[in-house]
Amino acid sequence: MPGKPRIIVLGGEGQLGRAVAGAGGDAEILRLSHTAADVTDRGSVAEPLARTRPDVVVDAAAYTAVDRAEREADRRFAVDRDGAGIVAAACAARGIPLVHLSTDHVFDGRKGEPCTEEDPVGPLNVYGLSKAAGESLVLARHEQALIVRTAWLFGAGGGNFIRAIRHRALAGEAPRVVADQRGSPTPAPDLAALLLVLCRRVAEGGRLSGLVHVAGWPDVTWHALAEAAVAVALPPAHRPPIAALATADFPTAARRPADSRLACTRLCGTHGLERPDWQRSLPRIVAAIGMEEAARRAPSSRAALAAAGVDWVATRSIRADQRASARSRRKRARMVRRAARRTASSASPAARSSAAQAARAPGSRRSATMPFAPGSITSRTGAVSEASTRQPAAMA
Ligand SMILES: NC(=O)c1ccc[n+]([C@@H]2O[C@H](COP(=O)([O-])OP(=O)(O)OC[C@H]3O[C@@H](n4cnc5c(N)ncnc54)[C@H](OP(=O)(O)O)[C@@H]3O)[C@@H](O)[C@H]2O)c1
Repeated sequence: MPGKPRIIVLGGEGQLGRAVAGAGGDAEILRLSHTAADVTDRGSVAEPLARTRPDVVVDAAAYTAVDRAEREADRRFAVDRDGAGIVAAACAARGIPLVHLSTDHVFDGRKGEPCTEEDPVGPLNVYGLSKAAGESLVLARHEQALIVRTAWLFGAGGGNFIRAIRHRALAGEAPRVVADQRGSPTPAPDLAALLLVLCRRVAEGGRLSGLVHVAGWPDVTWHALAEAAVAVALPPAHRPPIAALATADFPTAARRPADSRLACTRLCGTHGLERPDWQRSLPRIVAAIGMEEAARRAPSSRAALAAAGVDWVATRSIRADQRASARSRRKRARMVRRAARRTASSASPAARSSAAQAARAPGSRRSATMPFAPGSITSRTGAVSEASTRQPAAMA
């Protein structure tokens, strides 16, 4: 296949969508946000596919608020079942291979050993039910669809357990964390890199279909994962104790599988790829989360970095990045001011006023530019806000 594979990512503003964009060195990635392509709306999905004709579509769109889903089942099924079916049908109609993301929550967690792709599903909650129904629709509607089940995802660009535990520990709280649920933590950047390998193979003419589990190792409990995250985020003297909690003592709206470890035999055997080691990626992701939050609060403040607990992890590179981004902000501001002065000297009073506003707001954010079909589809960008950091139900 000549050139870079062209990949559309649906749900592109989510945690995984952002990670795919970050990993896409040898691919052209078009991330479509919820507003740019709503998977519950046939036209909204079909239009960008027809216009941009990608080599592969990655469907990372989902309604991931597990507990909220219990009282919003209709919305959940509309996105995770019907939306998945709409995307599969749209891709099948155009002969575009599809990689669809699914979850460990399709299992009931009673097997007592890691679940394989051959194991029957048995969801315990609405999230798992709707994702399992979505999987069936995708496989029924598209011959060239690969379902990728993953688990316990964490990355820098999204709300997740690692972000939440780090936040609590830095705030001086002593979180209590569920110690009797086991799973396979998966770093979003590593999953993204593996997805891109699979996408490239498809774009080069390989055929992918069926199911594959792609999750990190070693398998652990939420409690062990919390301890690992705090050990990376804080020096020993500042680490709070993390008490172990039983699921029975922490009732949640949605029941969780007690043991949703994923066996990744097909990933390693059929596809010849390796499971990511989450322990290796954890420090980088914790540092990136800290950098993101520090930059949001006070871009150039060393105190803010210290408060965010990142200065001892990666202070040098963080400060270098911040100096570079401050330089580029100042340069952009100078250009905007110059342009505003030029406009002001020759324009009407109304134009002069908006030019003056532009000059006063040099740091205002701009829309992302699209890597293909430029200017035709827009997508919001920006850091994840504190408010969007979901509180995972494994922690009290
Ligand atoms: N997070 C995990 O721990 C985990 C574990 C196992 C599997 N997975 C699966 O991995 C995939 C990616 O998860 P993630 O962590 O990246 O989730 P995420 O951060 O919640 O991102 C999901 C994205 O989907 C978008 N979305 C929601 N409804 C949509 C719609 N109707 N049309 C188009 N986009 C829509 C959301 O946009 P808005 O926010 O604007 O609505 C959001 O940007 C999902 O399939 C998920 O089920 C995740």
